[in-house]
Amino acid sequence: GTPAPQPPLTAIPGDLQSLSDYERRAERHMPLETWHHIQAGAGAGTSLAANRMQFDRYRLVPRMLTDMQGATTGMELFGLRHAAPILLAPVAYHRLAHPQGELATASAATALDTTMVVSTLSSIPLEDIAQAARAAAVELGRTAPPPLWFQLYVQPDRAYTAELIHRAEAAGYQVLVFTVDASVKRSDFTLPPDVDAANLRGMPRLSQNASAAGGQIVFGTPLLDAAPTWESLAWLRTATKLPIVVKGLLSPHDAKRAVEHGADGIIVSNHGGRVLDGLIPPLDALPAMVEAVEDRIPLLLDSGVRHGTDVLKALALGARAVLIGRPQVHALAVAGMQGVAHMLHILRAELELAMVQTGCARPAAIQRHHLADGS
Ligand code: FNR
Repeated sequence: GTPAPQPPLTAIPGDLQSLSDYERRAERHMPLETWHHIQAGAGAGTSLAANRMQFDRYRLVPRMLTDMQGATTGMELFGLRHAAPILLAPVAYHRLAHPQGELATASAATALDTTMVVSTLSSIPLEDIAQAARAAAVELGRTAPPPLWFQLYVQPDRAYTAELIHRAEAAGYQVLVFTVDASVKRSDFTLPPDVDAANLRGMPRLSQNASAAGGQIVFGTPLLDAAPTWESLAWLRTATKLPIVVKGLLSPHDAKRAVEHGADGIIVSNHGGRVLDGLIPPLDALPAMVEAVEDRIPLLLDSGVRHGTDVLKALALGARAVLIGRPQVHALAVAGMQGVAHMLHILRAELELAMVQTGCARPAAIQRHHLADGS
């Protein structure tokens, strides 16, 4: 059934003090099938679990007595200022979690000066999301919202893909994320009637989720013909002047190849363990990829980030920033805009605490020597 719309909370319940608290509470705020769709890992869930365990393998080595005056989580990516090395990962259909969907997420992200990566499969048109971010900035007395990024799923028809890019550019999105790992994946989830891919209305679609139904054969079908290739990246490079970040690479060979094709960044990701079970956890893949790109472009990381210390560990191993996926859905379901703002605040505060304990006054100061390999 459809979830009862949640009344906006005027105060955040006091027992919500971590991202796990939001996760525990979120289940009762949505229908069971939606909950399973959001939480699910592929196959037996081995990668999903490994994404969390990868962080626990490392212990922090504290550094004392550092002068932390003027300390900041702020950093630059593609010449744009970001308040912290924490971004909201592209997640489809926020209206599954809350009636205001991406409008609430964008307002919260603006309030916390956090970059949101808006999905091609957003349940609110990308223009309206950008507008909500600008409106929130005005309300807060800021000159501009934090940079907005747009995540691109290439469409079977290249003209439609170009149209999506141009719409994102016109709406003020400043970075393009090209997701390459999810063109063929299982999904048995059916959207409720009041939620749709708002950006793709009127465009030809392969299937509702742009993915294969459970157990379907894909070889020799249009689904595979429409899947992006390196040639798509070369085309994309000619189609936009925006920085292009390739999302969903785990191999150092692919990292090199992405650099050669003009990528400006990479998100090291196994899509939160949703695409194929048994994939290497991003944190394990990261060091070899850092070595392969030799500082030519920044590497970002997602999948399993839940604590400020996880952010610190990812940065110590060479990531420039991390993204969080499911936690934004959890917070949105529990408390809408305020929930997402609170969740981002928690994570930022946890990162600051971890930086103080390790004597890191800025993200670039976080280094490999702050970690001990506990495995
Ligand atoms: C995603 N993810 C995703 N990625 C993307 O590029 N485009 C998309 O539309 C979506 N949609 C989506 C929906 C849901 C429900 C989830 C959980 C994930 C993947 C997402 O960007 C990110 O890679 C993972 O969610 C990161 O892992 P964690 O933080 O959820 O563990």
